Amino acid sequence: MRRVRIAVIGCGDIAGDMMTVFKLTCGVSAVDFCDADEKRAQKQAARFGVRKVYTDFNEMIEKTEAEAVYIALPHFLHYPVMKKALEHGKHILCEKPITIRTGDALEIVALAKERGLKIAVNYQYRYDANCHRLAKAVMNGDLGRILFIRCLMPWSRDESYFTKSPWHASLEKSGGGTLITQGSHLLDIILWMTGCGIRSAKAICRQLKFPQTEVEDFCSAEIILENGTPVQFTCTMAVPIEKEIRLEVFGEKGYGAYTKLKGSRVKFHGVRPPGYGYGKPAVHAVQKSLRDFRDSILSGKEHLCPGSEAVRVLKAVDFIYSRAKGENNEGI
Ligand SMILES: NC(=O)c1ccc[n+]([C@@H]2O[C@H](COP(=O)([O-])OP(=O)(O)OC[C@H]3O[C@@H](n4cnc5c(N)ncnc54)[C@H](O)[C@@H]3O)[C@@H](O)[C@H]2O)c1
Repeated sequence: MRRVRIAVIGCGDIAGDMMTVFKLTCGVSAVDFCDADEKRAQKQAARFGVRKVYTDFNEMIEKTEAEAVYIALPHFLHYPVMKKALEHGKHILCEKPITIRTGDALEIVALAKERGLKIAVNYQYRYDANCHRLAKAVMNGDLGRILFIRCLMPWSRDESYFTKSPWHASLEKSGGGTLITQGSHLLDIILWMTGCGIRSAKAICRQLKFPQTEVEDFCSAEIILENGTPVQFTCTMAVPIEKEIRLEVFGEKGYGAYTKLKGSRVKFHGVRPPGYGYGKPAVHAVQKSLRDFRDSILSGKEHLCPGSEAVRVLKAVDFIYSRAKGENNEGI
């Protein structure tokens, strides 16, 4: 198999984890590294035997011979970096969210299509075997007509989350708090498995634990999907200890629940959907995401979360924020 050469832009927290996955994955090589903090870029580069690093993403994109980039930057930088990468003919694997403004995301997806380039967004719960199985059970009608969905994401963050990466606390740089950053993962699954956008919603956003920031650490929404299914959705980073996330689907024929704390599980009652696996076993869901990104370049196989799907999630996030602000939008 030909190796896909990928340049890495942003060498912070998630990139460190992702580089371990790169090391364990056949057919991909991280070949160039960029971070505004040179030491961070050097640390990751050293793991791949690379000496020269970049601190300016413009220079790196102009010079790199990689055919693709992996973007793990603060949210506000996703748009300018993706635009530059597409203009230089690079395929893109980007961390979520695709951008912080829907208009920018639509522009990026259109540009990629025009240039025949791939954009994949790392909403990796689609690749978690148990989450995938629940989603497929919904898509295939195994649970019957879906009566309602309930989702709770009680994540825990402390002050260091904001002091280590101050951009998290800035609305301009992050685009929002727990909803866009954490909640969007399972919001993505809900929209993906039902094939729907949001028809209407009532929402509240609060700062329960971090009032000194500009972003919400708690968001709760009562959502009606386009097909009429009600969804109770709550995400937070304000709880004192990390508790399991839970996505429950109540169907006419049966019930399915996906849970995740350290490992993940799926349980069904009343129905026994097939044990959908996706791809070869992996060390983590993101490895399947990375493999699909590689294969999308080599063979045209679609990534499970192409840019257009990530736009739908961003529209839903925007809509929930607008409802929390009490704006009078009709739907998305
Ligand atoms: N898929 C997941 O589960 C997951 C988990 C965590 C984070 N993320 C996403 O990954 C992205 C990065 O998050 P993180 O937690 O690694 O953040 P981070 O703050 O740890 O890392 C961001 C890096 O970008 C660098 N940077 C900032 N401005 C730059 C510039 N102009 N040019 C080059 N480098 C620059 C910083 O120095 C830092 O090293 C975000 O989109 C976040 O939402 C995804």
